[in-house]
Amino acid sequence: MHTKSGNPLFPIGIGTWNIGGSFSADPTAKYKGAVPSYDNESAEIEALRYSIANGQNHIDTAELYGAFHTDEVVGKAIEGLSREDLYIADKLWRTSLGTGLVRPTVDKMLQKLGTEYLDMLYIHAPFEGVDWQEAILQIDALIDEGIVRDFGVSNFSVRDMEEVRKIARHPIVANQMNYNVLYKDEVNEEFKAYCEENHIQIIAYQPVKRQAVMEDTTIQSIAKNHNVTPAQIAIAWLLTQNALPIPKAINMKHIDENINSVAIELSEHEQEILGAL
Ligand SMILES: NC(=O)c1ccc[n+]([C@@H]2O[C@H](COP(=O)([O-])OP(=O)(O)OC[C@H]3O[C@@H](n4cnc5c(N)ncnc54)[C@H](OP(=O)(O)O)[C@@H]3O)[C@@H](O)[C@H]2O)c1
Repeated sequence: MHTKSGNPLFPIGIGTWNIGGSFSADPTAKYKGAVPSYDNESAEIEALRYSIANGQNHIDTAELYGAFHTDEVVGKAIEGLSREDLYIADKLWRTSLGTGLVRPTVDKMLQKLGTEYLDMLYIHAPFEGVDWQEAILQIDALIDEGIVRDFGVSNFSVRDMEEVRKIARHPIVANQMNYNVLYKDEVNEEFKAYCEENHIQIIAYQPVKRQAVMEDTTIQSIAKNHNVTPAQIAIAWLLTQNALPIPKAINMKHIDENINSVAIELSEHEQEILGAL
């Protein structure tokens, strides 16, 4: 994975869930129509710009987030920046995978983001009841046209990936998974081996487990030894697993910490301890 200008991705991407409000685009979702608990746009734009200015060139969003409003906030944050030096990933929700729906959804993403192409288009999850042949045909066409550069999946098991690979003409470049030092149930050894063999990058979402890693005493003690925070250890551990973590952070201190995690060197012994949590 690299930007259109050919730059590699910074080892830590930018998560955006809750930026731009957390209400859902899925009309069948639990929180449909919920009023966003949100009045924070300027701080969010500032945080995104700060992350980018400090080297993070990969932004992860989804139509689900803020019912496209997150795309809009990201669009404002990247306005005026060199588009080809950024890698923007978006995700299709279940309601956008039917016949004739992918293209207009991607058009809406592009309009909100203020861009002409997506670097990555994920299928957000292996939803029930989707005609995958039909959905993937539409994604393949967008890649052929250059509107989408890379194709990815999210929350797909090895079996789910096998099914997609039978249909898709373009390779799965990444699989975005719930993966962190305290949750390794889905990204197990078999999963990792399959991804490695097929050149599928694992993108780790919830890399600090929405702050739960801060409370773990083992992680705390390793963090103390390195004079860093437990969140930084959690991110550094994911890097040892060749995963690409995408923490969401709007607090500038958190952003600095996350970026500085790339410099942490965990010993083999520490990696073993963390791997066994
Ligand atoms: N594909 C999927 O199904 C899926 C599902 C969930 C998430 N995602 C993606 O993955 C991203 C990350 O997941 P997430 O947002 O759910 O969880 P997360 O990144 O594990 O946690 C975010 C929370 O951790 C805090 N935080 C970040 N860095 C920190 C640090 N260094 N020290 C202490 N706290 C820190 C943030 O606070 P502040 O914001 O206050 O700094 C925020 O409250 C999402 O934003 C989204 O882009 C994808």
